[in-house]
Amino acid sequence: MLRIVVCVSGGGTNLQAIINGVRQGTITNTEIVGVISNNKNAYALERAKQAEIPAVCVSPRDYGDREQFNEAFLKTVEQMKPDLIVLAGFLVVIPSQLIRKYENRIINIHPSLIPSFCGTGYYGLKVHEGALVRGVKITGATVHFVDEGTDTGPIIMQKAVAVQEGDTPEVLQRRVMEEAEWIILPQSIDLIANGKVTVTDGKVHIS
Ligand code: GAR
Repeated sequence: MLRIVVCVSGGGTNLQAIINGVRQGTITNTEIVGVISNNKNAYALERAKQAEIPAVCVSPRDYGDREQFNEAFLKTVEQMKPDLIVLAGFLVVIPSQLIRKYENRIINIHPSLIPSFCGTGYYGLKVHEGALVRGVKITGATVHFVDEGTDTGPIIMQKAVAVQEGDTPEVLQRRVMEEAEWIILPQSIDLIANGKVTVTDGKVHIS
């Protein structure tokens, strides 16, 4: 069984897609051993509670400086003994110590087709605002391994979504979630849990 820890900051719809996938058997060989939020008001914490998954809040606000927060975050993760860490709408920079220790064992969902609309400053609605300002006709979502850059790690899965006339950032965000994120994040976890994902020279191969 692949032990996964899911890190969240907000609504937790991607967490819900993972919970549903495990329950319904579209994600196999996987146990969600914990949920970590940096925001005590995140609805994602309520979703974890309803699914009877241990959930904790580790907020930078509760620590004197970044180093102390990083230490507490690292300790919380380690106590859960994960095989894979899933960033599902987690809007905090992951300490580089953790990234090095969990090389190719941390994945992130990003709401665009990387390398478009990604990197510093592109998160949540801002990604969709950027896509609409540029006038792209196709956007989508990407699941990738996390390295020390921002949205630069090896790409595991991508799915395209059409932009439609009259879209607002909110409408586009919802369509990208429904048609891409909630599909490719559970699929990527299932592939990893079944040993189908390898990384060679910074590129992912799926067998
Ligand atoms: C999702 O759209 C996710 O792709 C995005 O935050 C949202 C979280 O929604 N993540 C990023 O922008 C990361 N750079 P959720 O809490 O309902 O899953």
